[in-house]
Amino acid sequence: MGRSLKGTVIITGGNGSLGSEIAIAIAKTQPFTHLLLTARDPSQPDARDLTERIRLIGPRSIEILRLDLADLQSVHTFALQTIERVRTKEIPPIHTLIHSAATASYTVDEPTVDGYDPVYQTNCMAPFLLTVSLLEAFRAGGGTAADGGAKVIYVGCAEASNGRLDYFDHDREESSRSVGTVLSKKEASLRFGSSKLLASVALYALRRSLASTTNISLDVFTMDPGVMVGDSHLRTGTPLSVKVAQQTRSGLGPILRMMSRSAVNKASVPAKAIAKVAFRQASVEQAERYFILDDEYEAASVLRTLHEGAAMERLLLRMMQQTDGSAKNSPASMSPTPMVF
Ligand SMILES: NC(=O)c1ccc[n+]([C@@H]2O[C@H](COP(=O)([O-])OP(=O)(O)OC[C@H]3O[C@@H](n4cnc5c(N)ncnc54)[C@H](OP(=O)(O)O)[C@@H]3O)[C@@H](O)[C@H]2O)c1
Repeated sequence: MGRSLKGTVIITGGNGSLGSEIAIAIAKTQPFTHLLLTARDPSQPDARDLTERIRLIGPRSIEILRLDLADLQSVHTFALQTIERVRTKEIPPIHTLIHSAATASYTVDEPTVDGYDPVYQTNCMAPFLLTVSLLEAFRAGGGTAADGGAKVIYVGCAEASNGRLDYFDHDREESSRSVGTVLSKKEASLRFGSSKLLASVALYALRRSLASTTNISLDVFTMDPGVMVGDSHLRTGTPLSVKVAQQTRSGLGPILRMMSRSAVNKASVPAKAIAKVAFRQASVEQAERYFILDDEYEAASVLRTLHEGAAMERLLLRMMQQTDGSAKNSPASMSPTPMVF
């Protein structure tokens, strides 16, 4: 790869409707960025079409690699290969990791090969593992780049406001239902929202942990793109009016304000906002931030759990244990970064 490249941006779900628009927005505004997109099957036409669309913008450094978040070995392999490629300077250090991939489902599914609910693993556990596993590649960039330092952006959603941190606990009644059981819209939304809530909180907890160490500076935050029109496969079917009513009940002020201000957008709108925030200068003293489109909020004002230090520490510990035990000799288990709980 060319020496003029300034950093690598990884976008999971790079072939998805939002992921592909984020790639295009970054290709337009950051010509010296290496775009590393991931897809479950990069040979599919949507991945090839995206590459062509980006090539039309101009000469850009782009690749689409295989990553299946429902298979933790795939996450480990991708992370190890990426770290090695950064180490050997085949690609520039990671500037930003954007977690856009997600899955939703209306039925009780077979567990993944790793034994987890696929919605939980794809939306929460695997993004967390990928972030931790790539710390080495972030560290290679020093974490102090002039354009704001390394960032991890988790693409959230309004349904997280109705999520529950204990939804995927094994002792819950719901976890004993048989595979194939059809879920109501409400239940599917709760499951999806819980996976997104858990991921957001766990990543903010990781950020706190990393901030208390001196060897890496990583800004981790959630960005809610709002409701999008397009080819998304992620509809959990909740009509907007219901969502707004639910948000009123939960008292999630900022999301309610955003929904009434600009209810539905094309994916290119949040994509531009994400591309902008990914390259924004870091403030000297960064607070925990949460974005709804390009509006910025103090994260704890949106995610109340962030006020509960002990609950966050417990969640971080659980996530570290789950992911650390997922594969021997994984980058996560080998990471020299001390984890402070
Ligand atoms: N659409 C909305 O209105 C909306 C609203 C708020 C937030 N969001 C958030 O925006 C993000 C993108 O959603 P979208 O609307 O762009 O959905 P989408 O078009 O359906 O894209 C989802 C992406 O996730 C990938 N994915 C699914 N399972 C995967 C797995 N096991 N491993 C790796 N990748 C996997 C899909 O890859 P395949 O092509 O292989 O399936 C696809 O690239 C999500 O995080 C979602 O929660 C969406």
